[in-house]
Amino acid sequence: SGGQQQRVMIAVALACSPKLLIADEPTTALDVTIQRQVMELLARLKQSHQMSLLFISHDLGVVGEISDHVVVMRHGQVREVAPVAQIFSAPQDAYTQALLACRPSLAENPARLMVIDDHIAGRAAAASAVAKDPNAPVVLEARGLRKSFWLKQGLFGKREFQAVKGVSFRLRKGHTLGVVGESGSGKTTMGLTLLRLHEPTGGEVLFDGRDLLRMGGADWQQMRRRIQVVFQN
Ligand SMILES: Nc1ncnc2c1ncn2[C@@H]1O[C@H](COP(=O)(O)OP(=O)(O)OP(=O)(O)O)[C@@H](O)[C@H]1O
Ligand SMILES: [Mg+2]
Repeated sequence: SGGQQQRVMIAVALACSPKLLIADEPTTALDVTIQRQVMELLARLKQSHQMSLLFISHDLGVVGEISDHVVVMRHGQVREVAPVAQIFSAPQDAYTQALLACRPSLAENPARLMVIDDHIAGRAAAASAVAKDPNAPVVLEARGLRKSFWLKQGLFGKREFQAVKGVSFRLRKGHTLGVVGESGSGKTTMGLTLLRLHEPTGGEVLFDGRDLLRMGGADWQQMRRRIQVVFQN
């Protein structure tokens, strides 16, 4: 099943005890119950491995459930970075406010959704009871990360399309940073560029204080083992 496949993917990614796991829509294709199990598995493993997690999703609810901090992206840009509680209770950016307003209403199917939400609230409370050190070392830092694609235009022409336009954020040891945004906002491109699975166009990515994007062969190979990825499929 999809849920089993996803658990195997996660197990494989964690086999070499990475310091950082990038999960790009790891639960998007799964039903609510299996999604819950995969989320719990991720949260548990993150704790036991003392790992940092970059959790990418278009689903603000899912991101809110697992993250300590949230990055809101739109059109390749970061609109807001804030602690998860602030994103939900006092969003600063107009786009974040719109995203929140567009979430499905609880009133439409109260009985069922309330139960699920209660569970989420319960677990979120339990998870945040383990206080995270706000001054934990920064494991991953993106500084002005950019990625352009060159699209064909006409017979000989090329046009630059900026999929990621200067993204900056920090992810601390043992913390989870959620990345949320609509389809096409550049989340996956950003994740792939962090890992040089796309050739970056500009910016810096510091992992343990060292610039990943300019690291040479052997160093890079060694670093790469400490960062693993889980994709949706
Ligand atoms: N290889 C590519 N060549 C050209 N354009 C691309 C390429 N990959 C992505 N894009 C474009 O970059 C933009 C960002 O795409 P990306 O896949 O990063 O979005 P996303 O936020 O992950 O969306 P989703 O929620 O659907 O996964 C989109 O407009 C997409 O069409
Ligand atoms: Mg994507």
